[in-house]
Amino acid sequence: MTNHHFPIPNTFGMPVKARVYAEYRSVEELREFLLQFRGEKLLHIGAGSNLLFTSDFNGVILHSAMRRARCVSEDADHVLIEADNGLVLDELIAQLCDMGISGLENLSYIPGEVGASAVQNVGAYGVEAKDVIDSVRTLAVADGSERIFTNEECRYGYRDSIFKNELKGKYIITHVVYRLNKHFAPRLDYGNLRGEVGANPTPTDVREAVIRIRRQKLPEISELGSAGSFFKNPIVPREIYDEIAASYERVPHFEQDGGVKIPAAWLIEQCGWKGKSIGGAQCYPKQPLVLVNANNATPQDVMALADAICKDVQSKFGITISPEVNYI
Ligand code: EPU
Repeated sequence: MTNHHFPIPNTFGMPVKARVYAEYRSVEELREFLLQFRGEKLLHIGAGSNLLFTSDFNGVILHSAMRRARCVSEDADHVLIEADNGLVLDELIAQLCDMGISGLENLSYIPGEVGASAVQNVGAYGVEAKDVIDSVRTLAVADGSERIFTNEECRYGYRDSIFKNELKGKYIITHVVYRLNKHFAPRLDYGNLRGEVGANPTPTDVREAVIRIRRQKLPEISELGSAGSFFKNPIVPREIYDEIAASYERVPHFEQDGGVKIPAAWLIEQCGWKGKSIGGAQCYPKQPLVLVNANNATPQDVMALADAICKDVQSKFGITISPEVNYI
């Protein structure tokens, strides 16, 4: 007999259950849950689009049903928009583009909700969430008190923040305040984005171009389970890059943070994993950075595939790639 009754939503499509699944509609209700479940194992999730559940969850899953956004102030150039944590990020972006408000359009079609996207500092096509986050509003798990973190206090990095490190599990982001633009200055320098967008684009034109590119490369979550990129792109010392570049023709790379970022997709492809499977888990043929649930994969299949890929990248290139997906 199991006492895990509640299916946990997760885009990987893992058939996992939790002992309790509690959804709240207001900050007050969240505070009540925190009191009610004090001392229990708690996990707050968004859409479950960046999680790999390795087994059933013997605790309480919290999820927000707060899904609104409001303008909190504006001046001649900027608008401060406060969004609830449970709002689907892409729905917010669609609405903002319709209003001609820009800043988030490059992040179109990223699965997930506002709160989790601010923990993870999601990014795509040359923009990261941190570039437009003014501050986040939170509740402390310990006592339900409110605390606002400025952008700087969130200590954002590549797919990283204080909420994934020192303060992991300690605060729940309830709202994200974005500082967005009334005048559009498109950011089109990543990859082939400029080529996809016509002349004098609107935020909606950029949004549509990003969606077209993503659809070509990335699996549609409604059709094929995944958690987006499974690994982070490693940043290596220049000497390591130079060694690899001496043996391979045209190694894709980008200068970053004093090192060289080499796409994990390229490293994985060189190791021959593109399109390969272990059990029901597959390294996605169009973008090997993504692992997919191709055929009723178990968490063990996905972990075995991820481990095998990491091991091969390590032994072929001496580079450690690490998951960006959180194992629970
Ligand atoms: N590449 C290959 N083989 C492939 C595919 C790509 O070698 O089959 C190499 C190419 O050199 C390509 C490079 O990888 O130029 C980069 O590929 P891509 O532009 O698709 O981006 P990425 O670095 O693989 C990152 C993000 C994605 C985001 C894209 C676009 C991470 C971990 N991933 O992927 O984010 O959409 O850039 O900005 O940084 C996600 O986080 O879930 C996600 C999808």
